[in-house]
Amino acid sequence: MLKFFNNSQRERENEDISIDLNNIPKHIAIIMDGNGRWAKERNLPRVAGHKAGVEAVREIVKECSTLKVKYLTLYVFSTENWKRPVDEVSALMSLLAEYLKKEFKELNDNNVIINYIGDISKLPTICQRELIASHKDTKNNTGLTLNLALNYGGRAEITRAFKLMYKDIKLGKISEKDINENMISNYMYTKDMPDPDLIIRPSGEQRLSNFLLWQCAYSEFWYSNIKWPDFRKKHLYRAIYDYQNRDRRFGGIK
Ligand code: IPE
Ligand code: IPE
Ligand code: MG
Repeated sequence: MLKFFNNSQRERENEDISIDLNNIPKHIAIIMDGNGRWAKERNLPRVAGHKAGVEAVREIVKECSTLKVKYLTLYVFSTENWKRPVDEVSALMSLLAEYLKKEFKELNDNNVIINYIGDISKLPTICQRELIASHKDTKNNTGLTLNLALNYGGRAEITRAFKLMYKDIKLGKISEKDINENMISNYMYTKDMPDPDLIIRPSGEQRLSNFLLWQCAYSEFWYSNIKWPDFRKKHLYRAIYDYQNRDRRFGGIK
């Protein structure tokens, strides 16, 4: 049921909108953008924006878990983000390791499965270790799957899929007749996961930046000018509310 509260209650902004709990997107993906500009507006170094962004991650992961979203994919670091200054890249990697260390207990207590997509072998060893251990210790949980996209690029993922497929063809495991869309999906990092229903990009940019290219065929997009460090529960609710009011036709007619 959709219900608007009156203006006197507007300060309780996140309760302004009530969303239909029976129509929560199964998979939400977020391009967490705008940290650098958030910091610049405050005359702070870019890294301060990334640090502030961690608070938004905490809140949104918690909310998605409460709303019983099954998969939340967060774009943390793209295959193109290596172009940034070394100091910024190291700060991002340290924040990642710190996040996993600090948040592990709460995530695990909340039944969250910590997962990653992308080529993590290029990440600092400490990050790889934290990621592998967090995944191992949470993989039997049954709640929200938190996919951290790290050194992830949609084209890199598709290229990797081609390589894996080529190997399997050479080994005689598959032949031309086995190749279909489902089978290709199974060569992606997101194997066994539904495609994202909703892709959220804050910060005002309206592009995919190489995110989930194979999986986004029929995803609904939601943009906002809010910068990631300011993204809160009320923005998530607004995105879900808008999603619930869209007509997903998948090429058909209603
Ligand atoms: C997103 O914020 C974080 C990463 C890409 C790692 P940005 O750092 O891209 O912030 P802007 O786009 O420069 O404001
Ligand atoms: C996309 O943001 C990557 C992440 C949020 C991790 P970017 O800031 O790297 O994207 P562009 O450069 O604006 O397209
Ligand atoms: Mg950016």
